Amino acid sequence: MTLENLTLEQKASLLSGKDFWSTKSIDEAGIPAIELTDGPHGIRRQSGDVDHLGINDADPSTCFPPAVAVGSSWDRDVAGQLGAAIGREALVFGVSVVLGPGVNIKRSPLCGRNFEYYSEDPLLSGVLGAAHVMGMQEVGPGASVKHFAANNQEHERMRISADVDERALREIYLPAFERVVTEAAPATVMCSYNKINGVPASHNAWLLTDVLRTEWGFEGAVVSDWGAVSERVAGVAAGMDLEMPGSGGATDQQIVDAVRAGTLDESVVDAAVRRVLALTQLPHTPTGELDVDAHHALARILAAESIVLLKNESETLPLTVASRISVIGSFAVNPRFQGGGSSHINPTRTDAALDTIRDLALERGITVEYADGFSLDSDSDDDALREQAVEIAARSDVAIVFAGLSDREESEGFDRDSLLLPQAQQALIQDVAATAARTVVVLSNGGVVSLEGWHDDVDAIVEGWLLGQAGGSAIADVLFGVVNPSGHLAETIPMRLQDNPSWNNFPGEQGHVRYGEGVMVGYRHYETAEVPVRYPFGHGLSYTSFQTSDLKVETTGPDTATVRVSVTNTGSVFGKHVVQLYVATAAGPVRRPARELRAFTKVALAPGETRQIDFILDRRAFAYWDIELSQWVVSSGDYSIQIGETVSDIVAERAISLSGDVIHRRLTLESTVSEWFSHPVVGSALMQGLSAGMSAEQIKHSEENPSELKMVESMPMQQFLAFVGGAIPAETLDHLMALSAAEPVTA
Ligand code: BGC
Repeated sequence: MTLENLTLEQKASLLSGKDFWSTKSIDEAGIPAIELTDGPHGIRRQSGDVDHLGINDADPSTCFPPAVAVGSSWDRDVAGQLGAAIGREALVFGVSVVLGPGVNIKRSPLCGRNFEYYSEDPLLSGVLGAAHVMGMQEVGPGASVKHFAANNQEHERMRISADVDERALREIYLPAFERVVTEAAPATVMCSYNKINGVPASHNAWLLTDVLRTEWGFEGAVVSDWGAVSERVAGVAAGMDLEMPGSGGATDQQIVDAVRAGTLDESVVDAAVRRVLALTQLPHTPTGELDVDAHHALARILAAESIVLLKNESETLPLTVASRISVIGSFAVNPRFQGGGSSHINPTRTDAALDTIRDLALERGITVEYADGFSLDSDSDDDALREQAVEIAARSDVAIVFAGLSDREESEGFDRDSLLLPQAQQALIQDVAATAARTVVVLSNGGVVSLEGWHDDVDAIVEGWLLGQAGGSAIADVLFGVVNPSGHLAETIPMRLQDNPSWNNFPGEQGHVRYGEGVMVGYRHYETAEVPVRYPFGHGLSYTSFQTSDLKVETTGPDTATVRVSVTNTGSVFGKHVVQLYVATAAGPVRRPARELRAFTKVALAPGETRQIDFILDRRAFAYWDIELSQWVVSSGDYSIQIGETVSDIVAERAISLSGDVIHRRLTLESTVSEWFSHPVVGSALMQGLSAGMSAEQIKHSEENPSELKMVESMPMQQFLAFVGGAIPAETLDHLMALSAAEPVTA
């Protein structure tokens, strides 16, 4: 497709949508319109009234497990299969670009949209996001990884400035996007609504051009979040290609005017147009038919892989010995399986857990009774409902309480202000637990809920998150042991909301949210500050047991290593184990988290089977972002390679030393005394120079009084020199400063 035949007006017209969901066509130039549609866990195609908050109905499609569930699967295959299945449905609808996945980091458990994101950890988020995109794009349609960047809350999401230091951006908030872009080459990246350090993402040249394109090599198109554009011309110049939805032509005219006025180079417009035109090469003619049954069955399998068994005292689960069970709680009948907002799917069907529980119980000769326990619509009849529930719990071997959050409590568009389950549900769990022989709690929630107040009273807890339309059956599969649970927490369950590192700075005030915790997000904080949590990142039980052995680590260069470890299924049933590899270090001039997830994999093992796992750790596994040098740095020093059952339960570790990067920082008069003396090139020369000007007595005095040196260590050289009265001539200093950076800075 050649741009020469297009007028400036035509080119500008291609840079914004025709309507809510499609781009403009130019028939005479053979340019078709394409459709973009939500979303991250299913196709929300609206053939009737349109909106970006899931208010109007969409055409029926499969609602697969939302990212909160996929995150807990810790399984690339789950993410990849899900992406591919959504891709197949997109083909059926003729949708070219599907708006997902979301890889924003769960900075606070309160974020109303956490159900659409994978994890509090960037590696886990990035690996799963990349698998999703690759799965989908292999099928044909393009993906849109979102929301770029630092969109970690819903409160004032359209205007808040996320004030984040660059190290936290580079180490926590950008790497998931970086991985998706560099490994999976998504067709589009969606810029977020918020500002980053005061500059809106939609015209943030640093973000959209310097980082995304120049550093990461992104070649696709940037699309705005729906309505995110505030300054269109600045946006085009910054690399924001496609404004969605349309602006009725107003912003197209601004682009034309800017080019004519000479304030926007036409070649910049051309580059954006080329990237938008590339999207028209994606499939856009409806093809094939929706295989409703096959995709529902797949949704059930993927959901079961994502369920996390948090607690299981005395092998309460699986339900093999019970002869009478009571199922309590409206969520067993009216499942909550997806979140509110733009990702809201009109499912092809939904499975209620109670129906599948009854089927599986019947096969096993188990009787089932059901009671609502609480009302999802009003609080008025909760006492009566609770009494009925306690009555059936009293005559059962096991009571299963389905608790959770309703759409009213969490959604896109607003954040929660508490982690608590509704009071009526807490009271119900406590009363049932006090009566029933055994109590199991099954949770349905998009964001973390507190387990305090009832955790110790119950025998088992199944974290079901939001599992998509087949989630009810998947829960029943896990309860009866048809599927052995293998999900692990992708986010910490804290004891108290106040323990969360963002707590003092969430959701911000006066238009700013300050990411004051820096890189200490989620488990990085809990582990480093040794804050007790209810369940740590990475936690998840199984109906079998696993053993880790034979950890071997070899360095393969100054900043790389290979790791080999064996895992054995030591129990009696088939199961899947997540091998979690963490790196811990105190090396370097910056504060490092106690440990960080640097690799993981999920392995399926028959009883008695052992598997050897190999990991390759590249330099990023050891690096931190150095704000002085504006680059990744691997410090010379000691590193511990740790295999954890969870982030706080390390079962094997090996120490290695890395020579790391040779970095000679440029010294200035602002550099501290300690930086001058410890400089590998200049330090000894300086010491000699100083000693030469000192009397033997002065030298003896300074050797005998090391604390005096300590007192001046953090003093800038300029001030120090003023005190010691010009002990070093200005020319010598200039020479030493030039020498300080003379050696190559390699990283
Ligand atoms: C959301 C996006 C979504 C878009 C279109 C926005 O409100 O933030 O995630 O893709 O609407 O529905």
